[in-house]
Amino acid sequence: MSLPALIFLLSLLTFSHVLSATNITDVLSSHPEYSQFNTYLSQTKLADEINTRQTITVLAVTNAALAPLAGKPLSVIKNVLSLHVILDYFDAKKLHDIPDGSTLSTTLYQTTGNAQDKIGFVNITDLKGGKVGFGSGISGSKLDSSYTKEIKQVPYNFSVIEISTPIIVPSILTAPAPSDANITGLLEKAGCKTFAGLLLNTGVLKVYQSALTKGLTVFAPNDEAFKKKGLPDLTKLTNAELVSLLQYHALPSYSPIGSLKSSKDPISTLATNGAGKYDLSVVTAGDSVSLKNGLGESRIAATVIDSTPFVIYTVDNVLVPKELLSVSPSPAPTPGPAEAPSPADDSPAPSPNADAPAPVLSPPAPPTESPNAGPADAPGSDSADDKAAAGDFAPGKVGVFVTVSVCVIVAALVS
Ligand SMILES: *[C@@H]1O[C@H](CO)[C@@H](O)[C@H](O)[C@H]1NC(C)=O
Ligand SMILES: *[C@@H]1O[C@H](CO)[C@@H](O)[C@H](O)[C@H]1NC(C)=O
Ligand SMILES: *[C@@H]1O[C@H](CO)[C@@H](O)[C@H](O)[C@H]1NC(C)=O
Ligand SMILES: *[C@@H]1O[C@H](CO)[C@@H](O)[C@H](O)[C@H]1NC(C)=O
Repeated sequence: MSLPALIFLLSLLTFSHVLSATNITDVLSSHPEYSQFNTYLSQTKLADEINTRQTITVLAVTNAALAPLAGKPLSVIKNVLSLHVILDYFDAKKLHDIPDGSTLSTTLYQTTGNAQDKIGFVNITDLKGGKVGFGSGISGSKLDSSYTKEIKQVPYNFSVIEISTPIIVPSILTAPAPSDANITGLLEKAGCKTFAGLLLNTGVLKVYQSALTKGLTVFAPNDEAFKKKGLPDLTKLTNAELVSLLQYHALPSYSPIGSLKSSKDPISTLATNGAGKYDLSVVTAGDSVSLKNGLGESRIAATVIDSTPFVIYTVDNVLVPKELLSVSPSPAPTPGPAEAPSPADDSPAPSPNADAPAPVLSPPAPPTESPNAGPADAPGSDSADDKAAAGDFAPGKVGVFVTVSVCVIVAALVS
């Protein structure tokens, strides 16, 4: 490789590095003293949310300072860490230059819709002697934590600073155990009675229930969605087809809005039983997030509950997987013309083939383990629109640049 090519290559690498600097996981990965904080950001998917924001300050705390959170359920850890993500830019200079010496700054917790009083705000106060104190926005709170140092700054969009101790608000330290969630109860209250009834009658509810502690995302069509024209007549579907349809409205993983926005297509659903089968795409337009397949689109209307590791949304359309339409063309599905069922198919998802004799689903037994959690306190209830309050999604652009750089690197190596 020639010297100019090498220089070009190196400058490209530097360029890519700058562009990916706003990936919080990457930024913290070079600082082992924040590895626990970084792990929590990934486990709670806050990292995805942070990476989709344009103006953000992350208040990192060291592994030692995080000790009080050890063993807490992930939903509680998410609550606490959400208070450590400020929707504004603060570096050392700005911290020491706060108008009137004190400010309440909005955090990600405020966008969950759970925030009462001033829980979702952080009080930043320039104390005497160059010290900057941090505490809960609830009036009268102590400023127990203080600014320690800068970690990474990309003015005036992305800042990571260290504070001495986590900001803890006692009322967000409890959360219901995921396994205690009453899925049908939550769905009925959210206007998804039809969907809840179908889950119960087909046994798919048990599949959802057993995924609650491992990771589950549900897209529940509201009752209006089931009255729309163009839907297949549900009463004419076999039980197996109905099961596929219901499993198609859930993911076997925890995907809050920020994660959906940054998900790579296609995403597998609970019905996915092979590569490219029963999958979905996510479409983001401003604050609106929709699911799409070749046949239609369904917008996420609201978040019913977001309690790591599960989240339930309402959506405004029933999404019909193309696999289902191709096997039930008319009122009387005839076995034969449809693709032959594969006898070796040992996938857990029921086969959508129409000749299945409407088997009753026997899902795995519901889990018995119950993560340590306090009494029911505040189940998350929020609006997806609130959550998705910050404009464009940047990481995609990073991806393009990285891909371009890789192509050029390959070209440089070949030449
Ligand atoms: C921040 O907290 C301190 C101490 O509780 C309080 O005196 C101050 O008024 C608070 N700042 C704001 C902007 O509420
Ligand atoms: C930085 O933030 C501003 C305003 O919040 C936004 O217009 C701009 O696109 C952001 N820049 C990057 C690189 O995200
Ligand atoms: C869940 O909620 C439904 C509807 O509110 C109720 O009928 C059912 O008894 C509840 N189940 C449990 C286990 O509490
Ligand atoms: C951020 O970095 C992590 C670790 O390098 C990577 O797994 C993740 O995909 C990146 N996220 C984005 C949006 O690029």
